[in-house]
Amino acid sequence: MKPPWFSENILRDHVALVTGGGTGITGGVARAMAAAGASVALVSRRMEHLEPAAQAINDEGGQALAVAGDVREPEQIEVAIASTIERFGKIDILVNGAAGNFLCPADQLSPNGFGTVVDIDLKGTFNMCRAAFAQLREHRGQILNISATLHYLGTPQQLHVSAAKAGVDALTRNLAVEWGRHGIRVNAIAPGPIEDTEGMKRLVPEPIKQKLRERVPLGRFGLIEDIANAAVFLCSGAASYINGAVLVVDGGHCLAANRLV
Ligand code: COA
Repeated sequence: MKPPWFSENILRDHVALVTGGGTGITGGVARAMAAAGASVALVSRRMEHLEPAAQAINDEGGQALAVAGDVREPEQIEVAIASTIERFGKIDILVNGAAGNFLCPADQLSPNGFGTVVDIDLKGTFNMCRAAFAQLREHRGQILNISATLHYLGTPQQLHVSAAKAGVDALTRNLAVEWGRHGIRVNAIAPGPIEDTEGMKRLVPEPIKQKLRERVPLGRFGLIEDIANAAVFLCSGAASYINGAVLVVDGGHCLAANRLV
């Protein structure tokens, strides 16, 4: 996929490590970054998703590497970071997209269920940022976290994810302040309802989809490409003074979601 909105190779000479990188939103972000000239390491638990995704990027003339790793496991993170540096020489973009989710009413959610999502989404993001810090400082790199809009209002059956993503937003702002002095920019994207994603398939029951679509002011669900374009922009030099932002990419949905008309 060539990003049609940007100059050729605006991420040339960059190396991006993308967690959760095989499928869905982060798969699209990885493809767009590769098309914009970056070398890309895809990191997630399942090699069976990662390898075809990396292969597809390589087949299109990009540079991609698949590395199995769980963001909850510090030793596996170290291996992923070392493999990326060994192959591409550095890391100067970290995209934290690895996430877990399921629908569950709060009164039925077990402590381990709550903790598992916080471990992946929030603590996993922290683990990756911490492990990549030396590289990002050396290369004046940047972090892009994939957040959500669920926690702006109360979202039924999404307590665990809302809590984790609220933490991701806090982490984004805090690291932007602490690490900005090292030349590291830290931003986030909060996607709204995005078509053709695992989240949409698993979390939005079919009868609710039409109602949900009608509540999006732009009258359509987002595309993976909409998030990928925002990611390429935020990681490019065009955004060089943007630090600590959580960019909502939802067609205006969260502003209109509590309105009846
Ligand atoms: N409803 C309620 N609780 C659930 C659940 C569900 N649908 N799915 C998992 N849990 C609970 C488990 O019951 C367990 O708690 P317990 O020990 O008290 O029973 C806890 O969460 C951990 O579950 P487990 O399956 O052992 O964890 P895991 O690390 O293998 O996987 C997820 C956890 C969240 C990643 C898993 O749901 C998953 O693989 N999801 C698919 C990927 C995904 O969510 N992508 C993001 C889409 S937006």
